[in-house]
Amino acid sequence: MKKLYGVIGNPIEHSMSPLMQNDAFMDKGISAYYHPFKILPEFLGTALKGMKALGVSGFNVTIPYKTAVMPFLDKLDPLAEAIGAVNTVVLEEDQWVGYNSDGPGFVRSLKEDWKSEWQNEKTLIIGAGGAAKAIYYSMAKEGMPRIDICNRTLERAASMKASCPFPCESNIMNIEQAEKQLSEYTLIIQTTSIGMDPLINDSPLSLEHMNDNAYAADIIYNPFETKFLREAREKGAEIQNGIGMFIYQGAIAFEKWTGVSPDMDRMRKLVTARLG
Ligand code: ATR
Repeated sequence: MKKLYGVIGNPIEHSMSPLMQNDAFMDKGISAYYHPFKILPEFLGTALKGMKALGVSGFNVTIPYKTAVMPFLDKLDPLAEAIGAVNTVVLEEDQWVGYNSDGPGFVRSLKEDWKSEWQNEKTLIIGAGGAAKAIYYSMAKEGMPRIDICNRTLERAASMKASCPFPCESNIMNIEQAEKQLSEYTLIIQTTSIGMDPLINDSPLSLEHMNDNAYAADIIYNPFETKFLREAREKGAEIQNGIGMFIYQGAIAFEKWTGVSPDMDRMRKLVTARLG
């Protein structure tokens, strides 16, 4: 019988995960189906019980439930617990176990699409929201010794650093300070939501002092190239948009569910084509 997987969220219509995961199941000859479930907030707990009762084998979690789902799970992976967000759930011995594959997905995209020695870079993370936290904690867990953080609200960056369970040195700075010393960094990671709205099309900071040998990564993939990435490219930097993080978080979930690694080129082509 086909195994059943899915993604829960609200709204869920625009999720590209069903396309990507169903194609990977087909490509790898795995008899499984991945369905988008739109869940209303008042039914979140009921939905999880129902999914277990119906024999769902695992699921992804997207906006707005990455934190809200946590009390309804049986167990939490320590990284997901530290980040405070779950995006991948696996049924293990009849228990829902929550993982975070967003941060590890970003780290894998650096490793696979850029360079294997990514830990040696002078790194700046821009932003201190949920996505920044997932990336910062995952990089620290993988042994990056130092990651500086800049954010509009300094206290938020300070509390992100203070709650990190893995050893990592960090200077905390505001946007203006980061702009002034941008030339020091060889890896700059943009995690704020500013570039997401094509009508506003803004960037969190000026790249005037960015090094032309820097690597600039944005977690946004729609628009395909944010103002931040365009300006970084024009400065001569190598760039990466959020497609890498998206496909690798999906690949890590797929591996946890099936024990099989999906074809990453195929995933990337599919998602890129869907984005037009
Ligand atoms: P998510 O959890 O999806 O990462 P979030 O918690 O709202 O989203 O965090 C968004 C990030 O974008 C934060 O770092 C936020 O800065 P603040 O902590 O100061 O709010 C940043 N951000 C959003 N809009 C911004 C803006 N107009 N200028 C500067 N930073 C902005």
